[in-house]
Amino acid sequence: MDWEGRFSPYGMRAGGAETRAFLRLVAQPGIVSFAGGIPDARMFPSALIADAHRQILEDPKRAAAALQYSQSEGYAPLREWIAGYMRNKGVACGIGNILITNGSQQGLYIAGRLLLGEGDIVLTERPTYLGLLHAFAGNNPNYGPLAALAEPAPCGAKLAYAMPDFANPTGNSFSLAERHAVLAGAQAHDVVLLEDAAYTDLRYSGAPLPSLLALDIQNTGRIEKSCVIYCGTFSKTVIPGLRAGWVVAASPVIQKMGLLKQASDFHTAALTQMVLADVAARLPQSHVAMLCETYGARLTTMLDALGAHMPAGVSWTKPDGGMFVWATLPDCVDAGALLKDAIAEGIAFVPGESFFPDKGIKNVMRLNFTACEPATIRDGIARLSGLIAKTLT
Ligand SMILES: Cc1ncc(COP(=O)(O)O)c(C=O)c1O
Repeated sequence: MDWEGRFSPYGMRAGGAETRAFLRLVAQPGIVSFAGGIPDARMFPSALIADAHRQILEDPKRAAAALQYSQSEGYAPLREWIAGYMRNKGVACGIGNILITNGSQQGLYIAGRLLLGEGDIVLTERPTYLGLLHAFAGNNPNYGPLAALAEPAPCGAKLAYAMPDFANPTGNSFSLAERHAVLAGAQAHDVVLLEDAAYTDLRYSGAPLPSLLALDIQNTGRIEKSCVIYCGTFSKTVIPGLRAGWVVAASPVIQKMGLLKQASDFHTAALTQMVLADVAARLPQSHVAMLCETYGARLTTMLDALGAHMPAGVSWTKPDGGMFVWATLPDCVDAGALLKDAIAEGIAFVPGESFFPDKGIKNVMRLNFTACEPATIRDGIARLSGLIAKTLT
């Protein structure tokens, strides 16, 4: 069968194959990888997760529910827990405002399915999250800059996507004034805001700021009037492998997204949701504090090593949290070509070009600091800096 000829335009546009090939390459043993966007598996609360599975499966009534089909919107006690977590962050909501998803990636994907027609304009930061570009690829949108929200001229956008806390790939965050400005722009241009809060709780310095959703509820009086669709996740603070995230939005949005989820996978695994409800309730506050202490020290190590070793002409972001530092090299350096040499030296990073919807910017790279021990970070950055210095001579 000639399969290529059979694929729909939507299917033909599916992106991400090069990312998979790249991740396979950097997973090779012996590589110092600044390439992944992953938590350190040694920090996972594995004993608690094993115990929650055991307790659920050993109780015949709970086991029956865990192994049975269930509701598309999600397991009510987990939605209750998330509603409480969101209320603590200033988001007045109930479980009718919560949809459980297979990671926040599914929330982004379904939001695109729900809202975007072919050629619609999506505003993003530049660079932006690569997974968002993949989630929306089938919809074939046109991209514009998030800054268009601040312009008086009509921007014609359907949707604006923002990561207010510790963005992937830059690590940058919005100030309070910038959050208000994005909301004012969305209101003025009548645009839906898709807020990605994947890294919000991984803050290592500075005071937390309210989400766009919390501020919009302050402005409009209640979530049912808000233009924000908020995507959260357990991946960065608990574990990514069980694939659990959530969407918070006005109830008509949740109902429609629930129907799209139902059409796609019926529901997120009931066992997963029951385990996460148990783990979320039992996991001490100190767990996230421990993650922040460990990752924060790794960030400091990376920033110090960059300062000590990078040649003149290289600059980088100094995030307050998250998982990434974004480095800008002199214009003449192509990070894609540099990667080939770096891999030969046993070091990997992600060249930054693919994070731009319109590509073309080659002298940038994303460096992850959460997956390696400080000594490895120091050694890897020193060697990477040496390679860049060699390229410049
Ligand atoms: C900015 C951002 N949003 C969403 C996700 C999706 O994560 P998950 O589906 O595991 O919640 C990621 C994953 O790396 C991310 O970096």
